[in-house]
Amino acid sequence: MKTYLVTGGAGFIGSNFIIYMLSRYRNINIINLDKLTYSGNLSNLTSIVDNSNYKFVKGDICDKDLLENIFNKHNIDYAINFAAESHVDRSILEPEIFVRTNVLGTVNLLNIAKKYWRLADTFESDKRFIQISTDEVYGALGTSGCFTENMPLDPHSPYSSSKASADLIVKSYYDTYKMPINITRCSNNYGSYQFPEKLIPLIINNYLNNRPIPVYGDGKNIRDWLYVEEHCRAIDMIIQKGKIGEVYNIGGHNERENIYIVKYIINVLNEVTGNNKISNKLIKYVKDRKGHDRRYAIDPSKIENEIGWKSEIAFEDGILKTVNWYLNNKEWLNKITSGEYQKYYENMYKDK
Ligand code: NAD
Ligand code: DAU
Repeated sequence: MKTYLVTGGAGFIGSNFIIYMLSRYRNINIINLDKLTYSGNLSNLTSIVDNSNYKFVKGDICDKDLLENIFNKHNIDYAINFAAESHVDRSILEPEIFVRTNVLGTVNLLNIAKKYWRLADTFESDKRFIQISTDEVYGALGTSGCFTENMPLDPHSPYSSSKASADLIVKSYYDTYKMPINITRCSNNYGSYQFPEKLIPLIINNYLNNRPIPVYGDGKNIRDWLYVEEHCRAIDMIIQKGKIGEVYNIGGHNERENIYIVKYIINVLNEVTGNNKISNKLIKYVKDRKGHDRRYAIDPSKIENEIGWKSEIAFEDGILKTVNWYLNNKEWLNKITSGEYQKYYENMYKDK
């Protein structure tokens, strides 16, 4: 029975990953270590909280004593590091916390895993450290071409720079100690339980509250979108089949301009709710994000050819599932958008 340490498992992708894994496998244990920052939410995990193979530990990946306790008490086979400060706009306002969690927290996890997994000059053969990274570490693309794993890292925001720093340190533990690591670099995720500071849930939440939908700059920046369950499936396959030391890009050939996404989701919401009064008039072009990367696009050939993963969910289907999920979970949405969120929102958009 394998034991997974999932860090950041109360966040958007981490909680989807835990739900995905526990619905797929009966013979695994999952320990979820999460600090419960503003984006961590235990109600994401209501559906599995009573599963006897699941355990939650509230804590910080920067807390070395806590990590020591966890590795001492449990025989951890796989460490999957989702824990991070994840929002680019927040990193522009407050970079330090991104360096602390994303860089120092990752080093702490590497050190503890190295301590418990190392056998003399080698490592226990079936252990694995998976660093959940991002395509943003490659920087920005022009109008053509895609990110491949062997491109140089060229991050621009404090967020992506902190993730790139962590990637280099994770890679150095393979190069130096032959630690069994993989780094995954996925494109933009969307789906259930995503905090409504990110574009897609923000569009849905603002539409439902009849509030302007802010579009940065000319709205023509391009992101490459992937339904979150597809990301979870890819991570599971990398744990099983990934070659030690390798980096894998994850993406589903779904490039869209931001303005397309906004208009498309407004149309889907109009159709699903039958409320045709809400139109594109909600769209509000606002001041651009500082250093806004123009285009991201993933070349997923390596994971497709070496691991056999391929995106299977069409963008239109994923968006419909997502819109329906938010409409059916208004209580979840209202709870996390009350209180602190209002202050965040007013502060973030006050100069735009
Ligand atoms: P999220 O902000 O929704 O979740 C982050 C989680 O980490 C939260 O539960 C939070 O409480 C926890 N956390 C933060 N600091 C912590 C700390 N010091 N110790 C322990 N827990 C801590 O983020 P997400 O969108 O789910 O992203 C998860 C990971 O995937 C991140 O590493 C991110 O860089 C990466 N990623 C995200 C996307 C995306 O589109 N969202 C795409 C590619 C990669
Ligand atoms: O590419 C993967 C990355 O995707 C992850 O590593 C990050 O954790 C995740 O936050 C995401 O980063 P982005 O900056 O691409 O996502 P965000 O949803 O913040 O923005 C998507 C695009 O929409 C981007 O071009 C900025 C734009 N935008 C965003 C917001 C919040 C707007 O036009 N208006 C908005 O209000």
